[in-house]
Amino acid sequence: MIRYLFYLVLFLCSFALTACSSHDQTEPKTPADTQPEQTQTSNHTEQTENQTDPNNSNTENTPSEDLESAPQKDNMKYAIQDVELNSGYRMPVLGLGTWTLSDDEAEDCVYFAIKTGYRLIDTAQYYGNEKGVGKGIKRAIDDGIIKREDVFVTSKIMPGNYSSPDDSIDESAKKLGLDYIDLMLIHQSGSHDEQVYQALAKAVKRGIVRSIGISNYYTSSEFERMKNAADIVPAVVQNENHIYYQNTELKSYLKQYNTVVESWYPLGGRGHTKDQFQNETIVRIADKYHKTAPQIILRYQIQSGYIAIPGSSNHEHIAENYDIFDFELTGNEMQEILNLDKGIRYENW
Ligand SMILES: NC(=O)c1ccc[n+]([C@@H]2O[C@H](COP(=O)([O-])OP(=O)(O)OC[C@H]3O[C@@H](n4cnc5c(N)ncnc54)[C@H](OP(=O)(O)O)[C@@H]3O)[C@@H](O)[C@H]2O)c1
Repeated sequence: MIRYLFYLVLFLCSFALTACSSHDQTEPKTPADTQPEQTQTSNHTEQTENQTDPNNSNTENTPSEDLESAPQKDNMKYAIQDVELNSGYRMPVLGLGTWTLSDDEAEDCVYFAIKTGYRLIDTAQYYGNEKGVGKGIKRAIDDGIIKREDVFVTSKIMPGNYSSPDDSIDESAKKLGLDYIDLMLIHQSGSHDEQVYQALAKAVKRGIVRSIGISNYYTSSEFERMKNAADIVPAVVQNENHIYYQNTELKSYLKQYNTVVESWYPLGGRGHTKDQFQNETIVRIADKYHKTAPQIILRYQIQSGYIAIPGSSNHEHIAENYDIFDFELTGNEMQEILNLDKGIRYENW
């Protein structure tokens, strides 16, 4: 009888164990398991095509799958936050543009942007707000948010300042309240632009500027003319650049010099943003990632290798434009946006 009871207990225990382990196997483990089959298949395809993270061995939880269900807010995995220039200095790939901002607005927005995480600020002598930009940076330094070396500051000089370009560059640094300017560009072409570019090269030797470049030069021959004017190759070409005008040929040409294209009007500029934000390809991709149209456009910019400096005087927009480091566009999506290029500029300078 005792022996019979012993076998009965043994049988019951083994039955209970089997039931537990089969329950483990049927429980869904990953978000992917809970998604419709078709979505999973297309995501896997996109992930294979994209292949931007060869070191990622975590196949259970692929980026595309995460994004399809819910964007991961604090994931900095896709961050491409700075690039090395041909000058040897590193430049952030996303910054704040300050054109049309008054001194007061510039101070406020630059301070807010730095607090948000921005480390690149774009200004110019022509904008008349170098003092405001400098004040915003100083406030951020005084408040212990950054040190001087944490922020990358760009200004620009006009070719018309050819008669005393050294003084003009020094004046910019003084207005900005900085010992050195990270990047100084010649603002546009003009009859004495080569002389001014030579002064920029001299400013690097004088230690007042670290990297130099050119702005509003759209062809390889214009680039070569400026490059040959001095013994420093431009580190950056800052041009009108957005989904409808992508400087594709110039960008490929500049690769041999490690020169980066920086986009002004990355969102189309004042008066043209709707044209860009309502583009149906952009809207569809934005819906997929639960992002806004400007965020998709800016993500495209940095993922393509451009540096983007969206301008804004609105804190919400400034924060929104910086929130693009938690997702990645697929190869197909990058190609779709590349195909939007019509070779059409809004401006003619
Ligand atoms: N080298 C050159 O010749 C040159 C020429 C032009 C510009 N730039 C530089 O490039 C920067 C960028 O160009 P940009 O400022 O003229 O044009 P942009 O960045 O393409 O567009 C600025 C416009 O977009 C709006 N905006 C920004 N973020 C937004 C968002 N998240 N949602 C909705 N609207 C948004 C801004 O309005 P809110 O203020 O309301 O946000 C503003 O009207 C300039 O600020 C300047 O630093 C250089």
